[in-house]
Amino acid sequence: MNAGYDQHLELVKKRRDELRFALANLYSEPIDLTLEIGSGHGHWLVKFAESFPEKTCLGLDIIGDRIERARKKANSAGISNVQFLKAEAFETLDLLPKEVRLKEVFVLFPDPWPKKRHWKNRLFCVQFLEQLAQRCETGVRCHFRTDHEPYFEWALEVVEQQSGWSICQTADWPFEQVTVFQERADAFNSLILERV
Ligand SMILES: C[S@@+](CC[C@H](N)C(=O)[O-])C[C@H]1O[C@@H](n2cnc3c(N)ncnc32)[C@H](O)[C@@H]1O
Repeated sequence: MNAGYDQHLELVKKRRDELRFALANLYSEPIDLTLEIGSGHGHWLVKFAESFPEKTCLGLDIIGDRIERARKKANSAGISNVQFLKAEAFETLDLLPKEVRLKEVFVLFPDPWPKKRHWKNRLFCVQFLEQLAQRCETGVRCHFRTDHEPYFEWALEVVEQQSGWSICQTADWPFEQVTVFQERADAFNSLILERV
């Protein structure tokens, strides 16, 4: 067998074991969770958690430095109802303990991957909505925002291609707080989906 591949499998297993352990440590009892995927430096989620102290919030990002900054922000704000984990979205959805009930999800300014050959890397895709749907009860909302017009068009097409979520035309955006990437944007589009 290929030694490099074996090593890769070992690393994946270790990463998944560590994430499973971290999540189980955080959520050992039934809990309603607000999830932000790609939380970056935590600007949005820390303000959200401050504004809704009754809610429990989790921010995910694959970049460790961003997670460190987000944690510092939460510490400076003196709040304990938000946690940040260096973790990938699909892996986290897979490993979240069954005690966790996702109540609302936010995907704000995800990487747009503008080149066609990179579209496969876009987070917001049919597979994502299907996996998310498995963790969400009817009525849960997923909030998506992007400043990249083609990504927004793509997102609308993605919604058409699955049946677990429908576009919620009447819902208001629940909380406004400018993110790092929003600040750089001239304009943006938002989409609210509801689990059906
Ligand atoms: C363009 S930044 C936006 C950050 C922040 N939401 C904002 O608006 O300022 C996208 C973030 O998503 C993170 N990200 C990309 N793919 C991810 C994935 N599969 N799981 C978790 N985070 C991811 C990136 O590391 C990056 O910090």
